[in-house]
Amino acid sequence: MVAIVEILKGKPSASDVELRGWIHRIRSVGGKVFVVVRDSTGIIQVAVAKGSVPAEEFASIERALIESSLIVTGRVVDDSRAPGGREIRASSVRVVHFAEKFPIQEDLSEEFLLDVRHLWIRSQRMASIFRIRHTAFEAVHEYFRDRGFWEVHPPMITPAGSEGGATLFEVEYFGRKAYLTQSWQLYAEALALAMEKVYYIGPSFRAEKSRTTRHLTEFWHAEMEQAWAGMEDVMRHAEGVIAHACHRVAEDRPDDVVALGRTPEFLKAVTPPFERIRYDDALKVLKGKGIDIDWGKDLRTLEERALTEGRSSPIIVTHYPKVTQAFYKARDPRRPDLVLCFDVLAGDDVGEIVGGSERETDLETIRRSLTEQGIDPKAYDWYLDSRRYGSVQHAGFGMGMERLIQWIAKLEHIRDAVPFPRTPARFSP
Ligand code: 4AD
Ligand code: MG
Repeated sequence: MVAIVEILKGKPSASDVELRGWIHRIRSVGGKVFVVVRDSTGIIQVAVAKGSVPAEEFASIERALIESSLIVTGRVVDDSRAPGGREIRASSVRVVHFAEKFPIQEDLSEEFLLDVRHLWIRSQRMASIFRIRHTAFEAVHEYFRDRGFWEVHPPMITPAGSEGGATLFEVEYFGRKAYLTQSWQLYAEALALAMEKVYYIGPSFRAEKSRTTRHLTEFWHAEMEQAWAGMEDVMRHAEGVIAHACHRVAEDRPDDVVALGRTPEFLKAVTPPFERIRYDDALKVLKGKGIDIDWGKDLRTLEERALTEGRSSPIIVTHYPKVTQAFYKARDPRRPDLVLCFDVLAGDDVGEIVGGSERETDLETIRRSLTEQGIDPKAYDWYLDSRRYGSVQHAGFGMGMERLIQWIAKLEHIRDAVPFPRTPARFSP
């Protein structure tokens, strides 16, 4: 058994191969059936001539519909007319399962394709995205493991949120209220005092009602936390991991990148350091572009687009006003109205792909922030132990894997960065 990509790229011409796959396209022309077969690695044309395969096999393939599964034996030949430059001349074609009429044809609405997502994931477009996603995840693990980070895991069911109450999903937990995790934040800070340099990739949940092209209610979150480190240290890791993922995808998946409308060169050009701009200065730049926002307001899609347009590498906005920020972020000792935090913004309307900060180490300051935000510090008492027993400077960030993939693969909508997207309007199939 051989993978299609090996036949297209590796196998010498004239070698005999056996492959398993599904019918991607099929047409008959004068005693010949041309079957485009797909497997997880790509597609290849198989030419089945009457007389070159057993008669009953020819009869079967003539009536097989797309997405029927089959096993093909044949010889590889170079043929410039075939997609990919090669085809297989079959000596045997066995249909394993005759598919019913496949519901996906040309020109279907986005909504319908989401209804039949379990079938649409068989498309070439989705396969390219899945392969890129695979490589992006691998690159993130590789980046952190190569730099001495421990992979550790937080719980998904939690007693309290860390990123504000508005986006918490409530779970009924044996008669009590629990929440699905928004971020490993509180656990990461506790774990950093145990294992110093930690990271993980896992699902986060946000009850975001906003229907945008960059919000999911369930997304995969790559998060890191580092003890004995400040904002500058972790900003370097944010740049580093983004660049590493871009380079790995460019090297390992150039065909998929091109198929989706990016170029490997674009991704290879993503190199640190990224341009940095303080929030205050970002407002001035925006004003110069005719966009006036009140100091203290968070940046929205419009502003993020204006700051990133025309750039190939992402930019980093730092030092946001404290008013909009979560309680655990460290205040800027030089400007107590600001926090030592940063967002990495990418172009093509993807916007924020990373959010991170240095963490507040002072117990009383955190208590005050919680109270100011109307939260009872008692619910966070276990977390505050990290400021009672050997508190040290520490910092970290979270990166939305689907946002990263959306940007790398130039996807219009974030839902295509994940096989079965969860959005406010839909949680099935
Ligand atoms: O900026 P956020 O909310 O930061 C945190 O949760 C921190 N506790 C992370 C940390 O420091 N460990 O989320 C981090 C990233 C965002 O930059 C974005 O890429 C992604 O998570 N994200 C989402 N991705 C898809 N859909 C959503 N609804 C998202 N919300 C956040
Ligand atoms: Mg954020």
